[in-house]
Amino acid sequence: MIIYGLKGIELKSKTKDTQTGNISFSNQEYSKLLIDAKIAGFTNIKDYLLSLHNNLNPKKTIRKQEPSPRLKTIHKTDLGKIICGDSLKWMAKAENKKSVNLIVTSPPFGLLSKKSYGNENSENYCDWFRSFAESFNQVLADDGSLVIDIQGVWSKGIPARSLYHFKLLQMLCEEYGFYLCQEHYWWNPSKLPSPAEWVTVKRVRVKDAVNCIWWLSKTPNPKANNKKILTSYSESMLSVLSNGFYNKGTRPSGHKLSKSHFSINHGGSIPPNLIVASNAASCGPYFDYCKKYGLKIHPARFPYAIPDYFIRFLTNENDLILDPFAGSSVTGFVAEKNNRKWIAIEKDIDFANGGKGHFANKSPYKLEKNEYTIRSPHKI
Ligand SMILES: C[S@@+](CC[C@H](N)C(=O)[O-])C[C@H]1O[C@@H](n2cnc3c(N)ncnc32)[C@H](O)[C@@H]1O
Repeated sequence: MIIYGLKGIELKSKTKDTQTGNISFSNQEYSKLLIDAKIAGFTNIKDYLLSLHNNLNPKKTIRKQEPSPRLKTIHKTDLGKIICGDSLKWMAKAENKKSVNLIVTSPPFGLLSKKSYGNENSENYCDWFRSFAESFNQVLADDGSLVIDIQGVWSKGIPARSLYHFKLLQMLCEEYGFYLCQEHYWWNPSKLPSPAEWVTVKRVRVKDAVNCIWWLSKTPNPKANNKKILTSYSESMLSVLSNGFYNKGTRPSGHKLSKSHFSINHGGSIPPNLIVASNAASCGPYFDYCKKYGLKIHPARFPYAIPDYFIRFLTNENDLILDPFAGSSVTGFVAEKNNRKWIAIEKDIDFANGGKGHFANKSPYKLEKNEYTIRSPHKI
């Protein structure tokens, strides 16, 4: 597309640092370039051409984002606020540097079938994410954490998976200096089987029901305390604690279990890096509020359990939590309930307004109940 417009370029050096170029286009070529530049989000052809050029070396490309709308606070509590607008704009403010203790968020994924709020292509995902990666680095406190929930996607037309979310992880660590503290996985048992062609028709793949959650930080030792996220002991563990009977000695795995190994009740067991949480809710204060005010229901809401886990694990009361892709502001609501300060930024006005619905909930804060069993793949 670009080649035809570049015939006959002459570059002359005016000063040591500046080059001027004469490029002639036919009217048709010029208007086509201008239209393509606008579609790609540029206001002039020069920036568009430079971006195309930089794309030849994707590692250095920072995609120019759409012009950002004005930031507008649309809901405020003692601890936080929902802001409508572009989170890049909020993060660019000097007073916000190193002020955030935890970013917990779910960006638009690189989906093939786009959601109403728009998604990036998985092929360009890293380029799109670069401005956010830079801004996250700037606003995060040195001992803060960055938690990104990201869904894997299928490649177009074939039963194979895209690598975009792994490339994102690699880019964040290798180019922006983040450490991968620990990958987590979110199993959503209520996910529907798709894409139909591979899963329910040809039956050559299984249900994709697990999102990756990358927990990253600026240093290898961010603030974290797993005592704050202990889960209830199982029946069998409770009986071991009360009667002291268990297989002492060396396990087949090589782990040596001493006499006193399971003798102390620590108040709960340390959770694994697999979080189970459904987001199948379709009623409650958020839905009532959106219905009452004719607002769109957000199609990709967090269950409370996801931000709740990371907020309690990685921050203390009064720390500041940021969700720069806030959607329905579940993160903000959960931060409020955990006595943390918070900022939830969402660019879509309907979604941002819908977030007020969570705060209309006067009933006590309760996490969703998640009954689940993992069945072995035996014959039915
Ligand atoms: C996957 S959704 C997040 C859903 C959210 N976790 C929830 O619980 O509702 C991603 C959201 O990011 C928003 N978004 C995309 N780019 C943005 C930007 N630059 N600033 C603020 N919001 C943005 C989209 O409008 C979309 O609602």
